[in-house]
Amino acid sequence: MKIIVTERIADEGINYLKENGFDVDIKFGIPHAELLEIIENYDAIIVRSVTKVNEELLQRGKNLKVAGRAGNGIDNIDVNACTKRGIIVVNTPESNIMAAAELAIGLAFCIFRNIPQAHWSGKHNKDYRRSKFNGNELDEKTVGIIGLGRIGSIVARKLQGCNMKVVAYDPYITDERFKKLGVEKCETLEELLRQSDLITLHTPKTSETYGMLGEKELSMCKKGVRIVNAARGGLVNEKALYKAIVEGHVAGAGIDVLEPEPNYDKKPEEQDYTNPLLELDNVIITPHLGASTAEANYNVGTAVTKLVADALKGEMVAAVNMPALKGTSLNELRPYLDLAETLGKIYYQAEKETVQKIEIVYSGDLAEAETGVISLSVLKGFLDVINKEKVNYVNAELIAKSMGIELVESKSTHLDKYTNLITVKFHTKTKELHVSGTVFAKEEIRIVDFFGYKLDFEPTPYVIAIQNVDKPGIIGQIGTILGASDINIAAMQWSRNRKGDKAVAFVSVDGEVSNEVLQLLKNIDGLLKATMMKF
Ligand code: NAD
Ligand code: MLT
Repeated sequence: MKIIVTERIADEGINYLKENGFDVDIKFGIPHAELLEIIENYDAIIVRSVTKVNEELLQRGKNLKVAGRAGNGIDNIDVNACTKRGIIVVNTPESNIMAAAELAIGLAFCIFRNIPQAHWSGKHNKDYRRSKFNGNELDEKTVGIIGLGRIGSIVARKLQGCNMKVVAYDPYITDERFKKLGVEKCETLEELLRQSDLITLHTPKTSETYGMLGEKELSMCKKGVRIVNAARGGLVNEKALYKAIVEGHVAGAGIDVLEPEPNYDKKPEEQDYTNPLLELDNVIITPHLGASTAEANYNVGTAVTKLVADALKGEMVAAVNMPALKGTSLNELRPYLDLAETLGKIYYQAEKETVQKIEIVYSGDLAEAETGVISLSVLKGFLDVINKEKVNYVNAELIAKSMGIELVESKSTHLDKYTNLITVKFHTKTKELHVSGTVFAKEEIRIVDFFGYKLDFEPTPYVIAIQNVDKPGIIGQIGTILGASDINIAAMQWSRNRKGDKAVAFVSVDGEVSNEVLQLLKNIDGLLKATMMKF
């Protein structure tokens, strides 16, 4: 499978992809128009913040299955458009937060103490005098943090260490979290603006946050306020900021992100970027350097490539466009995901009648769990068996809906025998058939009910499902046919509901069984069905 990497990421990440058999094309800084011409050749794209993974690109990228964002913000990726096409979007939100927080603090020190300006004047031997670069201290001042998420929280902790009073505005964070961080909550943005000596922004770029510091908001700030933006260009209106600095209301700004940004992958002689803010002495800028540390580069590059590789292999990854896993790790859920996928795979390997509704019932411990992704796993397994196009956790629900299949999820805390149980009920026009499974000892998965027959079966990659009349002699004949065909039986389990009625058997074998051998089994007197199931 082919992966294009359009912005610089750590070599270790690229090597990981190559070692895992992917064909990787490095096209750092490729212009959008050129990318449009070649994107059709790729199964996955890895970008940072410059490449726009937008509708136009996705329309051309007909083979794209995964978009990997090497970093945190996903504002350059049209996630909805990706989801509509079943493209998995992954990012690495935790990998560079320390780097970004430290840069914001660094910018704060720089604008309070004029460090870059003093350095520049020394280097260029221009007015290199102490009196010119007199600054202020952070100590005992008030910092207003807008956005108290991952990065904002680290900034809060570090600036508390500088003996600053830390206040924050973030309407989506609980009072408990504010309390835990020792940060004073501002109920409104205005409350923060009116008291802060330093304002630092750490929100994502959304329609709500875009331009959130405009002319009106800046006029509410204390005279002499300093502003740091190491989050996203556009959160601070640049024209308004320019005016407020020129008028002397804002004393300085430290800016890592601009709107628009220069293409930092272009050679200096090819740059044609202009921005009035860059002409102001008390504005210091860095070229979107927030994530640029050896540690963050390594973390981001290795994390994104692992996610992209896993997603391309069809494994469940924590994707941006999938139900969130609040407080549960993917590893904890893994056995349930495997069980769910196995249960989903059973129906169309054993039956033919069209399914109209899939009902998933979670019982016992699972009644309290995050089951959204587990349900997706059922659907993925169900569709994998019949769908020619690649089914993944992002497109499974869309594909099922497009087939007119209704998905219903319910929960019950009541259970007699198992501590957890997943039951999948397949509803057709004429009947309902169900399968159930459980996980015990945290990782052992078992199918415990197959269309009403009780079992305790550990699914293996190759299983022959048999239905027969419950009478003597059938097991022996099955053994003889499989043995004569050189097929090894690894495990076998029979279940019948009533003596002399029908029975079902799951026979684990070491490899795929040909149609010819299955036909020989079906020829046994009393054998009603023999189907190869692959899990
Ligand atoms: P996060 O999602 O953990 O935190 C963002 C916080 O903003 C959340 O707590 C959210 O509730 C809050 N928020 C959302 N809308 C708000 C609003 N209208 N008013 C106030 N608060 C609001 O994100 P994070 O990982 O901390 O990243 C923060 C920003 O930093 C993002 O924009 C990200 O893209 C950017 N970033 C920049 C760099 C860089 O290189 N400069 C590196 C990493 C991240
Ligand atoms: C991010 O969102 O991770 C940062 O903007 C860093 C980057 O894109 O390089």
